[in-house]
Amino acid sequence: MSKLASGRIRLSAEEIYAHELSALAAGDKLARPANWRLSPKAIVTYILGGKAADGTPISAKYVGNRRLIETAVATLATDRALLLLGLPGTAKSWVSEHLAAAISGSSQRMIQCTAGTDENHIRYGWNYALLLAKGPSREALVKSPVARAMEEGTIVRLEELTRMGSDVQDTLITILSEKTMPIPELNDAIEAKRGFNVIATANNRDKGVNDLSSALKRRFNVVVLPSPATLEEETGIVVKRVLEIGSSLELPPIRPADEELVRVVTLFRELRDGKTLNGKTKLKSPTGSLSTAEAISVGVSAWASAAHFGDGAMTAESLASNLVGAVVKDPVQDTVALQEYLESVVRTRDGWSDLYSAIREVL
Ligand SMILES: Nc1ncnc2c1ncn2[C@@H]1O[C@H](COP(=O)(O)OP(=O)(O)OP(=O)(O)O)[C@@H](O)[C@H]1O
Ligand SMILES: [Mg+2]
Repeated sequence: MSKLASGRIRLSAEEIYAHELSALAAGDKLARPANWRLSPKAIVTYILGGKAADGTPISAKYVGNRRLIETAVATLATDRALLLLGLPGTAKSWVSEHLAAAISGSSQRMIQCTAGTDENHIRYGWNYALLLAKGPSREALVKSPVARAMEEGTIVRLEELTRMGSDVQDTLITILSEKTMPIPELNDAIEAKRGFNVIATANNRDKGVNDLSSALKRRFNVVVLPSPATLEEETGIVVKRVLEIGSSLELPPIRPADEELVRVVTLFRELRDGKTLNGKTKLKSPTGSLSTAEAISVGVSAWASAAHFGDGAMTAESLASNLVGAVVKDPVQDTVALQEYLESVVRTRDGWSDLYSAIREVL
């Protein structure tokens, strides 16, 4: 069923890729860890793409190093938790969602950690009406996604782990090392079933906000997801994701736009690195992260502009305002950086004159 037909904007990974997951499960003869839907090998195929035993094609969800994904999956099969670390937009949340979908058949157990997250969000709260009527009891517990995942033996995802206070993070220590969550009010505990584990994500840029305590760090295996190494690799990811996202949003089809997306990625990489690709010109870097994820959003928005207001082809005009929006996060500093880049690089580059005028018009 298409997204629009179902009425929901976003379907979960396990819904979108249900056919791939069931094809993989049907042909999966290898041993599975307790309560896992698939064997570790089949999970790696689900993430990196390939073929199921019956020939069903499996799309690649993550483009990158196989070793990293193997390490991530192998970690989850042990009693250690997994921490995905990396710069913004390196697919940490994306990989975490797909891992949970493939391992547990559900990516829904998730906590978005913030400065306002407290221990009750990690453990449990109380339904006060029931608490007052009947006193403390199991029914009056409001279980957190962590508690529910422990009971079910599934994966729980903790997004942006280092955004919550260090003392709250440490609530996880007992859960990860003892696999139990005490409920002192009931003189009871929630015991984790086999298959329970945690996938946390954290952003390099937040380093120092609420550093992980060393006790907690020891309970996680860290897998660092790198930024794409080359222009070709990053363009490949952007082209693929723009096509996937645009089609799932049912945007009217437009003519292929690969060359335009190459320009977006080139501009992003040069500004991010503070120098041109050939290393000859030094540039000011804007304050934003200019991540792969943002390049993808620029592509999708440009597609929407081209489809609804243009002549059905992605052009410099449809890119320009979206590009400026992505680069200029601080109106003063970033405008200067982009203007300098425009004059010193874009103006003189072969075949970029249309982009030069289009950006100048909106800047
Ligand atoms: N190597 C990659 N392979 C496939 N998709 C990628 C890759 N890198 C980035 N993406 C795409 O980038 C988008 C954003 O990724 P995601 O939100 O998971 O990033 P993140 O690392 O969690 O960022 P943040 O730190 O901002 O939370 C996703 O649509 C994802 O498909
Ligand atoms: Mg994320």
